[in-house]
Amino acid sequence: MCGIVGYVGERNAYDILIKGLHRLEYRGYDSAGVALVSPSGTLNVYKAAGKVSNLENYCKDKDTTGGIGIAHTRWATHGEPSDRNAHPHFSEDEEIALVHNGTIENYKVLKDALIQNGCKFQSETDTEVLVQLIEYIRTHNDCTLLEAVKEALRQVVGAYAIAVIEKNRPDTIIAARKSSPLVIGIGDGEMFLASDATPIVEYTKDVVYVKDNEIAVVSKTRPLKLVNLNNEETSVDVKTLELSISQLEKGGYPHFMLKEIFEQPTTLLDCIRGRVVNEGKDIIVSGVLDSKEKFMNAKRIIIVACGTSWHASLIGKYLIQDMCRIPVEVEYASEFRYSNPVLDDRDVVIAVSQSGETADTLAAIQMAHDAGAYVYGISNVVGSSIPRNTDSGTYIHVGPEIGVASTKAFTGQVMVLTLIAMAIAELKGTMPKEDLIKIGEEILKVPDYVRQTLELNEQIERLSLIFTYAHNFLYLGRGYSYPVALEGALKLKEISYIHAEGYPAAEMKHGPIALIDAEMPTVIIAPNDHLYEKIVNNVQQVKARHGSVIAIVTEGDKEIRNIADHVIEVPDVPECLTPIITSIPLQLLSYYIAINKGKNVDMPRNLAKSVTVE
Ligand code: G6P
Repeated sequence: MCGIVGYVGERNAYDILIKGLHRLEYRGYDSAGVALVSPSGTLNVYKAAGKVSNLENYCKDKDTTGGIGIAHTRWATHGEPSDRNAHPHFSEDEEIALVHNGTIENYKVLKDALIQNGCKFQSETDTEVLVQLIEYIRTHNDCTLLEAVKEALRQVVGAYAIAVIEKNRPDTIIAARKSSPLVIGIGDGEMFLASDATPIVEYTKDVVYVKDNEIAVVSKTRPLKLVNLNNEETSVDVKTLELSISQLEKGGYPHFMLKEIFEQPTTLLDCIRGRVVNEGKDIIVSGVLDSKEKFMNAKRIIIVACGTSWHASLIGKYLIQDMCRIPVEVEYASEFRYSNPVLDDRDVVIAVSQSGETADTLAAIQMAHDAGAYVYGISNVVGSSIPRNTDSGTYIHVGPEIGVASTKAFTGQVMVLTLIAMAIAELKGTMPKEDLIKIGEEILKVPDYVRQTLELNEQIERLSLIFTYAHNFLYLGRGYSYPVALEGALKLKEISYIHAEGYPAAEMKHGPIALIDAEMPTVIIAPNDHLYEKIVNNVQQVKARHGSVIAIVTEGDKEIRNIADHVIEVPDVPECLTPIITSIPLQLLSYYIAINKGKNVDMPRNLAKSVTVE
């Protein structure tokens, strides 16, 4: 949620900042802004509502010179998306500019106090309070910007990654973080900062992940300095980025979403590489081996996640229960954290998060830690907060996911959960080795199965034309296919804005069946699994009410093809692997429907990829 970027050095800061904002636009695109100190010493702040391209247009005839600057792309929390509420925010005397990702929870109290002291505010944001407070402290205590930021942050409750510049010090940015991500790139006579490494990667591979409660002094002339709120210097731990620029580009596809859908044969291969070995006979998940005792003795596993990751987690529940015979609960992190959960040291909590930065998921794992539970993380972004705050974990290794609607991360999460379940089952002896080997051998073929499934692209594109103007969709599935139905419905609604509901197929008769008529398409996920005969009945029930059925079935299906209106046939795989395969046609269907409707699939309205606020 919101992206920040900063630069100090000899180059033109504006160009670097704008490019960086484009990379971070997945984090929010309600407004964008930039603050630059010009060579003549003016602090110029330019902002525009809407996407970064609006800001670029606005800046065309402005002075965008200067070797230091900060910039922001916003996902609105406090105050509507408008020029006025866009960042950077100025201090009242226009000496300081600040950008912020996060939420200042006690902003009201601070704002009232500042107003009483004569401060005047320009915006409705929580962020402006921070810049006014810093300026108030700086002028009243006659202290440096670093000291003022430190003191202000001591008074702040909430989450933040901030970057602050002042007119009279055009060689230094002060940045800080608590609960929102912040990376610093170290170049030669220049430094970069950003919410993630994507704006930095083409300039340097040397990065420092700022930790909670650290303040960074980012200067072009001096080495990076980190201090905590007690003014103690902390160590600077430089890491090498494993990210390439080509991973951040569309590679000939019209949208990141389509590119990411088509990348899945490769990303799934990356995900299983080194983990499914000896021709599928052995599964090695190092995080599980490191946590052997914990998983062997777990009385319960609780999986916490949000959004698409929550759907992957539901599949994880079926996998772990089936294979390991350990009770599993799946919780929305946002509910779990406020539900006063009963936890102890025999619980294992697994946090699933593509970004590794989702605020609710982070809070949930903090709570689990405090209660003595063992915490395991499944993330995509290397070095993000969740892997750094868990006892052990596994990366899904699917590469940067830029389309806001998650696709390759979902299948990567499901794959990793499958491997984790298999590794635990092996440790606990809850599954015959020959069954595990059969699945292991099939997992090695998954990239090919996915490739084959992607050949349905044109069929699905044609099918999408029939359903583009439907107002409502129902998605049904049972067992492993139930979370796939939820995910299919979510994909459609988030990018095409068509109302869609995912439901366990048998529950349809307790409500949604009332909605079915000739106008309402139902997508039924019905691979050849142990519930196949049951779901045939559900298809009949929809047809009996003149509903139109699109069915995802296994190649060679005999029954449903005779009843459904449209059939999409996918390769035959073991039941536990069906979600990875059946979700792919649903990703394509939602993509094409949204494209037919002229929607921006990579940046759907109101959404953001990384949700770092509550
Ligand atoms: C947002 C994104 C979703 C994602 C969810 C959870 O809503 O748009 O794609 O599934 O956050 O994010 P996480 O990074 O924790 O998986």
